[in-house]
Amino acid sequence: MSDSSWIRKMFEEGLNLKEKYGHKNVYDFSLGNPILDPPEEFFESLKEISESRIKGIHGYMPNSGFKSTRSKISQKISEQSKSNLNSDDILMTSGAAGAINVILHSILNQGEEVIIFKPFFPEYKFYVDNHGGKSLFCDFEEDFTPSMDGLKSLLSPKTKAIILNSPNNPTGITYSEKIIKEICELASESESKFNSNIFIISDEPYRYLEYENQKQPFIFDLHKNGIIASSFSKDLSIAGERVGFIALGEKLNEKETVIEALNFSNRTLGFVSAPAIGQRLVENSINSIVNISKYKAKRDYFYTELTNYGYKIIKPSGGFYLFPKSPINDIEFTELLKKERILVVPGTGFGAPGYFRISYSVDDSVIKNSLEGFKKAIKKI
Ligand SMILES: Cc1ncc(COP(=O)(O)O)c(C=O)c1O
Repeated sequence: MSDSSWIRKMFEEGLNLKEKYGHKNVYDFSLGNPILDPPEEFFESLKEISESRIKGIHGYMPNSGFKSTRSKISQKISEQSKSNLNSDDILMTSGAAGAINVILHSILNQGEEVIIFKPFFPEYKFYVDNHGGKSLFCDFEEDFTPSMDGLKSLLSPKTKAIILNSPNNPTGITYSEKIIKEICELASESESKFNSNIFIISDEPYRYLEYENQKQPFIFDLHKNGIIASSFSKDLSIAGERVGFIALGEKLNEKETVIEALNFSNRTLGFVSAPAIGQRLVENSINSIVNISKYKAKRDYFYTELTNYGYKIIKPSGGFYLFPKSPINDIEFTELLKKERILVVPGTGFGAPGYFRISYSVDDSVIKNSLEGFKKAIKKI
């Protein structure tokens, strides 16, 4: 608990500030909660489901989820990737968070190592701890891509998995295909050298929140032990409905055993599967997405204003985060911003001291009204 997340800490401090100054007067950029409305197809499907009386649709289903939902997801991935998946390659989970836990529970033996790229989504460390693994953190380059020398030095016979996340939380950057290929090549070399299996877990709930049309490869097209952990939390704006999935490539080693282990873990960790209504909803909205031009507009406006004030930011291409350089120690600067009633999360919480995270998934008015405070804070330095 003492290690617990800075994001929560800031969120809770925010609640105190809001009580003191009123909601409208606190500019809270601490949480990555999707703000856009789900697409129209989602509401139509919700109405249809609520009116339907098909027997058993609210009961248990196979642990891997409804076949019809899994089939729709496998078709979509097959159309977009170089792989040809079928419904058995998909397993429905309670969000991407559930997916990562189910995967780690299935593959990790006590003490095996998982490499996590900094800056990272802070929950990864807890997920690895949950299943007896050991997290190793890989340094990053100036452009927030992983250091390949760092990765080389961390790979060992004990490496069981690498988690990659693109578009990335907290930086918002999308890894290029070249970078992902380099990661895969190093993992494959290490597998040959140590006669091991290294699973590359591609955590990609932000895949479709990408504003520069950067093509994101599918991990199993580049590494046979590649596994996708994803969800509809962000692209359909339904984070509270907890619908995610695991997708396996055609050539995964010992695939049948892995599928059995994933189903066993999904059940015994207590998730069982993803919620039934949620699965029906995503099945009916499979090719829909929130209006991402709204996120893009928020990103462009906020980025332009902050850089005009002197903030140094690598322009993110996806997600809904900005990760500016902190002009002073990030924890101190976060405190300075708090004096302006602005809540952000120090980079320290993401393994990247010297930066801070802004989640711009907020109303435009919050961004606009916070600008004066951002200007004042940097002027004080
Ligand atoms: C990088 C990353 N991975 C996983 C998750 C968990 O998402 P889900 O709601 O699908 O469990 C999040 C949520 O913010 C995230 O940012």
